[in-house]
Formats: sequence, C-alpha cells, structure tokens
Amino acid sequence: MLFVEANGAKIPALGLGTWELSGRTCARLVEQALRLGYRHIDTAQVYDNEREVGDGIRASGVRRDDVFVTTKVWTNHFAPHDLERSVKESLVRLRLPSVDLLLLHWPNPQIPLADTLGALCKLKRDGLARHIGVSNFTVKLLQEAVRLSTEPLVCNQIECHPFLDQSKVIAACRKHDMAVVAYSPIARGGARNDKLLARIGTAHGKTAAQVCLRFLVQHDIVVIPRTSKDQRLSENAAIFDFTLSAAEMKEIAGLAHRDGRIVDWSYSGRAQWD
Ligand SMILES: NC(=O)c1ccc[n+]([C@@H]2O[C@H](COP(=O)([O-])OP(=O)(O)OC[C@H]3O[C@@H](n4cnc5c(N)ncnc54)[C@H](OP(=O)(O)O)[C@@H]3O)[C@@H](O)[C@H]2O)c1
Repeated sequence: MLFVEANGAKIPALGLGTWELSGRTCARLVEQALRLGYRHIDTAQVYDNEREVGDGIRASGVRRDDVFVTTKVWTNHFAPHDLERSVKESLVRLRLPSVDLLLLHWPNPQIPLADTLGALCKLKRDGLARHIGVSNFTVKLLQEAVRLSTEPLVCNQIECHPFLDQSKVIAACRKHDMAVVAYSPIARGGARNDKLLARIGTAHGKTAAQVCLRFLVQHDIVVIPRTSKDQRLSENAAIFDFTLSAAEMKEIAGLAHRDGRIVDWSYSGRAQWD
C-alpha cells in the first residue's frame, strides 16, 4: 500500500468509500475490503452506517492500528458543544476510542468557522481523533481554516476525477502541506464509459476505472472509490502494479473541465465563501 504524507499524517492512498452502503452489505464489504488489503475506510455521520463500518472492521480481524478510519461531522453539528457530542456518538457507533481522521463534511457559513475549528482541535488534543481536516472547502475557505486552526489540518476531501478541473484547490492544498482526498474518484462510475481511459487501459491490461484511479494516485492524490460489488473491490485495488507514462498522464489531464462537477453544491452555502 502506498501512503500520502501530509502535515504529520500518513494516509493510505486507497480507501473504501461507503456512502449509500448500508446494513449487512456495508459491514460485509468493509470486512471483505480489509481482507483484500484495503487499509483505509471512509464514512460519515450522515451516511448512517458508522455502526456497520465498525462491525466490518472488527469482523475483518485486521488490527485496529493497521486500519485508517475517517469519519465526517455533518454541518448541523458545527456548534462547539454539538460537535463534541456528535463525535462521541460517532465513536460509540463505530465502537472505537478514536478515529484516524475527523473532517468537517461541508462548510457551514451559519456558524463561525473559528468556533467549529476550536472544537475540532480540542477533540484532537483530547485524543478522540489522531488527525483533523476539512472537506469541500474552497481555496479561500481553506486559507481561512489554516489561519484559524491551532492544530495541523491534514486534508481537504473534495470531488476529484479526470473530468473536473480542480487545479486551483489542489495547489492550495499543496501549499499548506495538506493531502487531497478524492471523492467520486471514478466519477460515480462514469469513468467506465470514457473512450480515452478505456484505450489506455487496454494497453496496460486494465479497465478504464483502474486507469482513472491510477491517474489520481500518480498525482499523489488519495482515492476512496465506493462499490457494492465484491469483484469491483479487487478491480479498484489493482492499481499499484502498473504505471502510466508521462504522455498518458498528459492525455488524461486533457479531459478536465471547469464545469465537470457531479456533486451538487447548491445547498452548501458555497456562494457566501467565494
Ligand atoms: N466529502 C463529501 O462530501 C463526499 C461526497 C461524495 C462522496 N464521498 C465519499 O467518496 C466515496 C466515493 O465517491 P462516490 O461514492 O460518490 O463515487 P465513486 O466512488 O466515484 O463511484 C461509485 C459508483 O461507481 C460504481 N463503480 C465502482 N467501481 C467501479 C468500477 N471498477 N467500474 C465501474 N463502476 C464502478 C459503483 O457502482 P457499483 O456499486 O455497482 O459497483 C458506484 O455506482 C463515497 O462513497 C464517500 O465515502 C464524500
């Protein structure tokens, strides 16, 4: 397993995304992923599956110290007392004493960022999270977060795949020594149908989805693809035994568009930060 290092954190470059996985399917897939060699699991309070993620981790038999567990605090818990209470509830559901990475899921302009970050930093100091970070933060908001935080922020988890130009926010993450964690890294399955990715894949004996993930990993970006299918767990993990050439990387980079976003930002209050 490769790792991406950022501000003192060592994040496995491949994780399993768990949005929309629920119940026994979720627990089984988490268990199976860990048995296959995944060492990083991404969940969130709002996914309503922290309990099943915890069950899957325990069932896998993999030592707790060898699994990197991320959860995210939902925006309605950003007032300091709510944040602390909600994270303690997350840990009860996960049945873990701490998580490896605790993120603010989206910006919430209704609550002062300084207050929310103060509470997040306190949880890190209290040992409930080994590392802290943010998700869906714009360049401007990222700068503000770094200025206000008394503890290092180790990542910004953002929508990131070859069809979306995220160069500005990626550059801002690098400037602050923060890792980029790519969500929707195979464009919610859309990568599968891309002709360029498929052609490059054929040359390497790989699928378009594998080329897509490899492209991100070769840019030192952490990927957290989600699947509900056992065979795709293996497919998405088999991305460390081939290398894309500089010419292939350049060709894939040409797929990026400013308006290539899949995830709807309209409810996030983003306009108030830009
Ligand atoms: N921070 C945030 O705001 C945020 C937002 C969105 C997501 N996330 C996180 O990021 C994770 C991944 O993002 P995502 O779930 O939006 O999208 P994704 O991982 O890009 O795509 C998941 C979709 O792709 C399909 N798929 C998986 N592997 C495939 C393969 N090898 N070939 C073809 N299709 C494949 C899956 O279908 P099958 O199940 O049929 O395989 C599923 O429909 C989430 O699960 C979540 O943990 C975070």
